[in-house]
Amino acid sequence: MNITVLTFDTLDSTNTEALKQARLGADEGLCVLADHQTAGRGRNGRTWISAKGSGLYFSIVLRPKIDSKYVPLITLMTGVAVHDTLAGIGLRPDIKWVNDVLANEKKISGILAETAETSKGLAVVAGIGINIRSSNFPDEIADIATSIEHETGRVISPAKLASALTGFINYFYDILTGEEGPAKVLSAWQSRSTYFSGKKVKAWSGNETITGTTDGLEANGALRIRDEDGKLTIVHAGYVERLRQAE
Ligand code: BTN
Repeated sequence: MNITVLTFDTLDSTNTEALKQARLGADEGLCVLADHQTAGRGRNGRTWISAKGSGLYFSIVLRPKIDSKYVPLITLMTGVAVHDTLAGIGLRPDIKWVNDVLANEKKISGILAETAETSKGLAVVAGIGINIRSSNFPDEIADIATSIEHETGRVISPAKLASALTGFINYFYDILTGEEGPAKVLSAWQSRSTYFSGKKVKAWSGNETITGTTDGLEANGALRIRDEDGKLTIVHAGYVERLRQAE
């Protein structure tokens, strides 16, 4: 995939801009990078705080030629790429299903994958936010989020981070779209995530709450959770929290 990066000072959201470019016919590999987002979007309608100089705000247009049942693996593939980008600058990240990258159990990066039907077929936009500085985190996330600066004592420019990240996305996207790609991406995710199996979790999916132990992923990336009675629930979309000993 050819990588082309469009850089902006300010955007409402790099995902919104990338979706617009995809609908206009942009090739896969088009990346959108902004210093600042005025309406950064997280999952489930949440806001992604996007102050200038505090983070990487990045989106990439993909046009995956894979069976549609494997499209959810784009999020996992992106998580693996973010993981390796952060490992490359000295962190020891973890990936929490489905799209959070953690450092010391706090969130350092989030991924928002969105799709658009375009005249060239289905486009997937993978949007990635990485916290570079945490000095101006609002109170409500200070306890649950961390940053590169906090974890390493150093900052890195968004441009450098984006360059490393696009390298890893390119590498793992090639794998995903190649022979046995879905199985290889699952295996890459498994080796980077403590959430793959044996983790006591609580999950919220639709209006269901499931408590149990993680028991691997389905072929499309859905999370398997087994409860105390051995009943297996497959979570396709939702939110997962680790349970501590006492819970
Ligand atoms: C989440 O964990 O809730 C996902 C957060 C995704 C944030 C990124 S920042 C770049 C891109 N543009 C957006 O508006 N959102 C994503």
